[in-house]
Amino acid sequence: MTNQVSSNAPTAWEFFAGGGLAGLGLDGWRVGFANDLDAAKARAFRANHPDVPFHEGDVGALTPADLPGSADLAWASSPCQDLSLAGARGGLAGRRSGAFWGFMELMRGLEAEGRAPDRIVVENVCGLLTSGGGADFAAVCAALGEGGRRVGALEIDAAHWLPQSRPRLFVVAVRGDAPPEIAGPVAPFHSARLVAAHDRLPDAVKASWAWWSLAAPPRRNLDLAGMLEPDDRVAWFSDERTKAALALLSPLHRRRLEAERASGGRRTAAGYRRVRIEDGVRTQRLELRFDGMAGCLRTPAGGSSRQIVVVVDGGRTRLRWLTPVEAARLMGVPDAYRLPASASAGLKLMGDAVAVPVVRALADGLLAPGAGRRAAA
Ligand SMILES: C[S@@+](CC[C@H](N)C(=O)[O-])C[C@H]1O[C@@H](n2cnc3c(N)ncnc32)[C@H](O)[C@@H]1O
Repeated sequence: MTNQVSSNAPTAWEFFAGGGLAGLGLDGWRVGFANDLDAAKARAFRANHPDVPFHEGDVGALTPADLPGSADLAWASSPCQDLSLAGARGGLAGRRSGAFWGFMELMRGLEAEGRAPDRIVVENVCGLLTSGGGADFAAVCAALGEGGRRVGALEIDAAHWLPQSRPRLFVVAVRGDAPPEIAGPVAPFHSARLVAAHDRLPDAVKASWAWWSLAAPPRRNLDLAGMLEPDDRVAWFSDERTKAALALLSPLHRRRLEAERASGGRRTAAGYRRVRIEDGVRTQRLELRFDGMAGCLRTPAGGSSRQIVVVVDGGRTRLRWLTPVEAARLMGVPDAYRLPASASAGLKLMGDAVAVPVVRALADGLLAPGAGRRAAA
């Protein structure tokens, strides 16, 4: 899985590295160090990137002495649970998302030694834009702006490249050989909520702000059906289980399914279970999307977030779980990637990860040394 690199390749350090998907998108870069706290993630990382020095442990316990030499880029996909709209929002002071500050302290220590990377990317959920009434976003931008970096953010949905709806926030801080800045926000990556968050920044933080320009890719030509394993290689639900799952459809989603069934052809949907409040009662529902997209892959805490593949073919409806290999494809990961043996570990690894083509687009458009000069030419 390790990228082929030349001897003068730029170097990246990967923090909160999980299974190392950021590194997979950094074509032409050498990953010189990676860190993650979680033992299962560490196993997956080492299995796929045996040549990358990996440190298993809390980022907050790392010191500059643990890091080899210097790097051009630090990539930090810091934990999002306290910032996610789906979770209790303790914000950046929360136990899990607060790990960002451990990372930041390390960057400050490196700065004091003159070894801090010129480029830092922080990836997180878009909830970072509003948590703490905008104070968390301001704190991240202010911290990344230390040392004279210009700081800008982009909201990028992996759906531009992959059949998965996965909007994420990328805060990109660069100094030195920086890409060109544009005068103001541009669609699609400067979303309305990002512009609103920028407006709320204190003036001192705005002074370091940069609107980075990243071109949207050509129209996506992949859909969910094209990511799936052959029908005879997967385990379909029993009739009983299928019936029980379909019983969770709301009248709207049942009509949707019936309409697709009536078409007589083969149709594929992603299904996911959601708790909805109906007449004041918490009701579990199975919701289907037949638009060729999977919903956002999530970490299967408790199991209810695992997506279901629904195939309607000639009037017959079959259901099954999305497999880890399919989840990996939905993240832009090649099939050669070594997934953990257990399905739940594989789905957790992918549900937590960053989509590879998004990293690649940022690397090519903004992060690669010389990206600025290339864009200006
Ligand atoms: C959002 S995931 C990032 C996954 C990664 N970008 C990938 O593509 O697989 C956050 C990661 O941070 C790790 N993590 C959480 N707290 C940490 C800490 N204090 N120190 C180091 N890693 C931590 C988690 O184990 C998890 O793998």
